[in-house]
Amino acid sequence: MAPIATVIDTDPGVDDCIALLAALASPEIDLRAITVTHGNVELGPALENARRICALAGRTDVPIHGGAARPLLRAPYRGKFHGRSGVGPLELPSPEVDVSAEHAATALARMLRAAARGDTPPLTICTIGPLTNVALALAQDPGLVAGVARIAMMGGAFQAGGNRTPSAEFNILADPHAARIVFASGAPIVMAPLDVTHQAMATPARVETLARLPGRVAAAVAELLAFFDRKDPARYGSQGAPLHDPTIIGWLARPDLFRVRRAPVEICIDEGPAFGQTIADWWGVTGQTANADILTGLDADAFFAWLGETLGRYS
Ligand code: BDR
Ligand code: CA
Repeated sequence: MAPIATVIDTDPGVDDCIALLAALASPEIDLRAITVTHGNVELGPALENARRICALAGRTDVPIHGGAARPLLRAPYRGKFHGRSGVGPLELPSPEVDVSAEHAATALARMLRAAARGDTPPLTICTIGPLTNVALALAQDPGLVAGVARIAMMGGAFQAGGNRTPSAEFNILADPHAARIVFASGAPIVMAPLDVTHQAMATPARVETLARLPGRVAAAVAELLAFFDRKDPARYGSQGAPLHDPTIIGWLARPDLFRVRRAPVEICIDEGPAFGQTIADWWGVTGQTANADILTGLDADAFFAWLGETLGRYS
């Protein structure tokens, strides 16, 4: 199968960095650009981290575009588990590529237009941060949806409950209005919500296995994961951290490792306790057409074996 033409939209972020490293080493993924958004950290440090991760991966061929510096309507909202720099205590190598002059939303729209014309393959937009850039791109022309193969996102939460409010997951909560535009766009959507990422626990034993891989990339990933440990076994059922963003990269590379359920999904934008909540009509009570494939389960051991094999390519 031809590698999947993909753009990753990201707010690096500890788990974003691991997701980027995995995507850059996955033969199943043809990474055509990285678009960067506000989110875990401000746009400036997020861009810096994306550039430094590419330097760590030894890649200078992937264009990096800066995008939205704030959400569409709500006040800026930052991550909680990534440290001031976004990468905890990790020292990353100096950037080797400049930031493109083209805004992320303009770059996404250009690539979608080319795909809609049939000049390039349909584009997979893999989002691992707030959805502002994607909403800004799609808002430029409803015809751009024709160029989307799928929007594969880490975002949302159902039975798992939220991680920043009792109901909302960070990526949706950081720009619920953008998420609403994306979910109403008609583009095919695949979601990795907290329900599935909480099954991808980077336990101490799994981190140790990754740390034993040779090379500086594996060492960096192990350091990031040690910092990311949530120390909350009551919630997660084990020590370690849920490996949110790499989960959707794992789905792109190895969809056979996941269970999926299709449903209509809406985003709550009412100010109040449900602000930013993702609501799935699991039992078809609304009669609405399903707009999302929701990842509900994964084979965690096989997922970590895939991650180790993929990161092992750097050594
Ligand atoms: C998401 O929020 C961010 O802090 C992580 O990078 C991930 O994308 C998990 O809710
Ligand atoms: Ca993220």
